[in-house]
Amino acid sequence: MQQTSRITKVHRTHIGTGDGALVQLGRFLVANRMNRNKIFILTDANTHHLCLPVLLEQLPVLNHAAVLEIPAGEAVKSLQTAETLWLELLSKGADRDTLLINLGGGVVSDLGGFVASGFKRGIRYINLPTTLIGQADAAIGGKTGVNLGSLKNQVGSFYLPVAVFLYPRFLETLPFEHLRSGFAEVVKSALIGDAVIWHRIEKQGGGRILEMPLNSAFWRETLEKTVSQKLKIVRDDFTERKQRKKLNFGHTVGHALETFLNGAGGEGLLHGDAVAIGMVAEGYLSHKKCGLPMEEFRKMDAFLRATHHADIFKPHDIPQLIEQMYHDKKNAGGTIRFSLIRMPGVAVVDVVCTEAEIAEALQFVSNG
Ligand code: GLY
Repeated sequence: MQQTSRITKVHRTHIGTGDGALVQLGRFLVANRMNRNKIFILTDANTHHLCLPVLLEQLPVLNHAAVLEIPAGEAVKSLQTAETLWLELLSKGADRDTLLINLGGGVVSDLGGFVASGFKRGIRYINLPTTLIGQADAAIGGKTGVNLGSLKNQVGSFYLPVAVFLYPRFLETLPFEHLRSGFAEVVKSALIGDAVIWHRIEKQGGGRILEMPLNSAFWRETLEKTVSQKLKIVRDDFTERKQRKKLNFGHTVGHALETFLNGAGGEGLLHGDAVAIGMVAEGYLSHKKCGLPMEEFRKMDAFLRATHHADIFKPHDIPQLIEQMYHDKKNAGGTIRFSLIRMPGVAVVDVVCTEAEIAEALQFVSNG
């Protein structure tokens, strides 16, 4: 079969996509004279088992690489794991010429990027995302970080990978819940910046889309649009001074739900599922604060509730959820700030909402 590839460059990051993405990775390693004895591959238990063999089969040169493995799941996204990895890199002779390849989902790319940014004051790294969340969002744009206690992504850096390769076939290894979770980031991307894609997604219905083969034209085109939008936003505002905040739609509530329900390290609630319910609450706030028409909000609400469970918290949890939101990185001056939408495809950033407004939105979610 012919292998397709598309290559682009954002800041200093080389992006390769398509069935030929791993071939592109091989060419990139040669073109950049990466010393094969200085390559480390970071995996988690799942990607070690499911994705590493695919990578090594296509790129046998990587058989020389040292493999680092962490357990799967959000609990390992910590300073402690970063320290373990730094010590492992040291003991295995890594130096400033080392290249770290992160083979995994958002946890692996966030943590691996953070480890790369700190080791010897910064070594090169490549992201090879294996999940939909990773390919649609997390692996692109150079946000790295770890959780602090139960709080998400409180320590980290903006540190670009030298390259990201999006190989669609890795997605075929994903369990359904992870596909559904990643799909929420695709929906978010449409809602904040592409009304045409949103209307197409909304018309199809989430249930039907999640049953479609990942190599269908629908998925391919939708993912391409999602990735190009993310690349554009990152190109314009790498360090999130303004426009990049749009990507946080659904995340202020979503992160609070994750922290509250999963505590330090649990993973009962997947990131995308939390963001989906976050978008219902923040869609409500968008209606109240930014004039999102009720009719549009109703469509969003129905779509998201059809694919994600909204009954994940009770009204008496609301004060604690709001408490968590004070830790959001977008906040300033002691207020809670949201990224909302005025219309599908049109986002607004830095919208201050009061506790009473947030409580009303959360009540709406829990009343269904
Ligand atoms: N995941 C949001 C961002 O990269 O800004």
